[in-house]
Amino acid sequence: MGRTWRRWSCRYILAEELQQFEDAFASYLGADHVIGVANGTDGLTLALQAAGVGSGDEVITTPFTAIPTVAAIVDAGARPVFVDICADTFLMDIGRVAAAVTERTKAVMPVHIFGNPVDIRRLRSLIPSRIAIVEDAAQAHGSSSGGRMCGAMGDLGVFSFYPTKNLGGYGDGGAVATSNAKYARNVRLRRTYGMVDKDHMVVHGVNSRLDELQAAILRCKLPYLDRQNEVRRSIAARYRAELRSDLFTHQAIPPDGVPNYHVFVARMTRDRDRMVEYLDKHRIQTNIYYPLPLYRQEPLAGDCRGLHLANVEALCREVIALPMYPELESAVVTQIISVINSF
Ligand SMILES: Cc1ncc(COP(=O)(O)O)c(C=O)c1O
Repeated sequence: MGRTWRRWSCRYILAEELQQFEDAFASYLGADHVIGVANGTDGLTLALQAAGVGSGDEVITTPFTAIPTVAAIVDAGARPVFVDICADTFLMDIGRVAAAVTERTKAVMPVHIFGNPVDIRRLRSLIPSRIAIVEDAAQAHGSSSGGRMCGAMGDLGVFSFYPTKNLGGYGDGGAVATSNAKYARNVRLRRTYGMVDKDHMVVHGVNSRLDELQAAILRCKLPYLDRQNEVRRSIAARYRAELRSDLFTHQAIPPDGVPNYHVFVARMTRDRDRMVEYLDKHRIQTNIYYPLPLYRQEPLAGDCRGLHLANVEALCREVIALPMYPELESAVVTQIISVINSF
């Protein structure tokens, strides 16, 4: 019996699969453009550069985030300026941003940390319109605020498709979302050496492309994202309702916000390290996101000498992440809760 072979395009870079994923993700987000890139960190750098950020500029951000947020700011040639977070939501305190603005401020980079949505509309109303908002939505696939998707509310929004993300590939990947055609064109140029055609470049660029295999995988996984986020929210609801209230203070969700619970992080004002040890003995994995305010990291500490932001410092001492993934079965959640409550 003869075999029927499907005709493969044999194109592995910047072809149909990427285009289809970019279109599907743009439509999911309600953004006009999505540009696939090699990883989230590159996406943040390219988004900042497209917004005009360069050498000597300042970018206001949170010190309570993953290291790549700040790596991208520095890579774009700018200086990160840190403002404290809100003790209850763990998000950058947008009420403090205006006071940090100087004539060198070119962008603000809010981070939807753990998938908890920042109120970007309110942030926009508090800062001058010349300042771009570049959302770090690397942890916020499917989160929303006031009915609008994270990553599609600011001037540009950036996602990571690192395998552990709520929408993850089988390797590295990232994307920039925007409804500004000029920014979209600029990011598209920069991700392929700044080339307009095979012989001409018009801006300085890099090689940062989302390959066809990752794009195909991500397009297949996208339809499952909302359902999986719903499962995460139901696990989070159980932790909130059933864990001993004398042990934990839970992350507050801003009004109108729908989080995706990329990770479930709570505060423990006492016994955090003992709890980590105890759960480890019971073979329940925990994690500390994040143990150190970014301004205490070695390459930044010199520039940030004397900076002390009380809320972030307390949070770094108190946070604990509990198991959270959509495949976590209800019976296992019951067991986890029971072990924790016997602490
Ligand atoms: C908040 C945040 N920003 C940026 C990134 C960078 O993404 P990537 O690892 O794809 O470069 C990550 C992912 O680790 C992240 O969690």
